[in-house]
Amino acid sequence: MSKVTQIAHPLVLHKLSIIRDKETGSKDFRELVEEVAMLMAYEVTRDFPLEEVEIETPICKTKCKMLAGKKVAIVPILRAGLGMVPGMLKLIPAAKVGHIGLYRDEETLKPVEYFCKLPQDIKEREIIVTDPMLATGGSAIDAINSLKDRGAGNIRLMCLIASPEGIKAVMDAHPDVDIYVADIDEKLNERGYIVPGLGDAGDRLFGTK
Ligand code: PRP
Ligand code: URA
Repeated sequence: MSKVTQIAHPLVLHKLSIIRDKETGSKDFRELVEEVAMLMAYEVTRDFPLEEVEIETPICKTKCKMLAGKKVAIVPILRAGLGMVPGMLKLIPAAKVGHIGLYRDEETLKPVEYFCKLPQDIKEREIIVTDPMLATGGSAIDAINSLKDRGAGNIRLMCLIASPEGIKAVMDAHPDVDIYVADIDEKLNERGYIVPGLGDAGDRLFGTK
């Protein structure tokens, strides 16, 4: 059963409110999405294992902790997931980045895959899928299917805003995937948009509407 973690930190919620505001332009929107992703990365990686290593400070030798085990891949769902990558890379600079291109057909609301390029050793990596919006859940479910088809195992999903419907759909389809969100909104509207949400994340990030 997926674990759902809401990262309701005051800084995250404050910045998210500015992101949601329709008066916030693309430049500020981009910067804030990057900042929120960086703050969320701190929680998303909380259970990463540590190992003891010996180092030498200018004073003496000592044992201390460093990250152990699996390497990380960040996999944004294009386009809007790209906005979260720079913030993630600030905290996990050695991560590799895969890309899955999906757009949601506005008539059927079903995702259509148009691109997939992943690190060769994706099977061995701890994967963090990023997408600001989890609406019907179709895009996240398909992206995770694509990753699993290519042998990926350890996958977590990180979104800024989720609908209750989207969370349930991902949990039903992928009970092994933990979900991290900054906020859970009320519902979807008849066009599959999250209410109150923030509108179309890709368009707001890239100024395409
Ligand atoms: C948005 C968003 C998600 C998807 C969520 O992308 O970034 O990927 O919709 O909706 P769902 O949960 O109902 O699938 P969109 O398809 O608009 O593409 P874009 O990022 O290129 O704008
Ligand atoms: N995609 C978006 O960008 N926003 C929504 O509210 C739903 C899907």
